[in-house]
Amino acid sequence: MSELNLILLGPPGAGKGTQASRLTEDFGLPYIGTGDLLRRHVAEETDLGKQAQEQMDNGGLVADDLVIAMILEKIDEEGDDGFLLDGFPRTIPQADALAGALEKRNRRLTAALLIDAPDETVIKRLSGRRQCSDGHLYHVEFDPPKHEGRCDQDGKPLSQREDDEPEKIKKRLETYHEQTEPLKDYYEERGLLRRFDGTQDKVKVHDHIRATLATLRLEERL
Ligand code: AP5
Ligand code: MG
Repeated sequence: MSELNLILLGPPGAGKGTQASRLTEDFGLPYIGTGDLLRRHVAEETDLGKQAQEQMDNGGLVADDLVIAMILEKIDEEGDDGFLLDGFPRTIPQADALAGALEKRNRRLTAALLIDAPDETVIKRLSGRRQCSDGHLYHVEFDPPKHEGRCDQDGKPLSQREDDEPEKIKKRLETYHEQTEPLKDYYEERGLLRRFDGTQDKVKVHDHIRATLATLRLEERL
């Protein structure tokens, strides 16, 4: 069994989305990003989007049962040969639901990749983040597009995410520390946690994760 079943953990703005787009290419994995999926539901005004919007606007978490159902369905649709989850699980009940669902399917998680960075770093990153409607990511200072306000990849206009304003960033960080950070111990205890220093340059972070995954995949094949 050499499939890679991966989750990305880390505070808002640590670089989960930035690394995910590179890793899915490297390893041919489907990207399942909870935030992107939820924002699409909100934009399309689906029932789920209507239920999720208030919590997302407040920097809180969407109810576990809604998110769990959405993600398990996606894994069944796209993740038969492996997956990269970005932003799920974010609570212990979500982590338990994922573990239970994988066990039922005779599968297991390969690793939980923690990209860590302190609050002051992520506040700077989120304040300067820009993205196009397809989710391609930039930063006004650290990773600017070639033409101001335009995506290098598809020429679409760049905008700021609604939850990237100072008060909401503060609330998202509180939510992270209270509800998601306990997952570090959860996955450490299960021998699945791999830590990466998210304050480093994005190319270095990428090289480090890629090398770790190449080793893990070799071990899976043995
Ligand atoms: P989500 O969209 O997942 O947001 P988040 O976790 O707050 O994380 P971000 O996307 O803000 O940060 P990131 O780590 O991806 O950083 P990025 O690569 O963009 O979730 C949004 C909301 O949905 C939640 O608040 C919640 O309400 C809801 N939700 C989602 N999942 C849920 C769940 N499981 N349960 C319940 N509710 C859920 O990078 C940030 C910036 O930094 C960019 O500008 C980038 O260019 C720059 N950058 C990246 N890496 C580097 C680097 N190494 N050096 C310098 N700059 C860098
Ligand atoms: Mg993201």
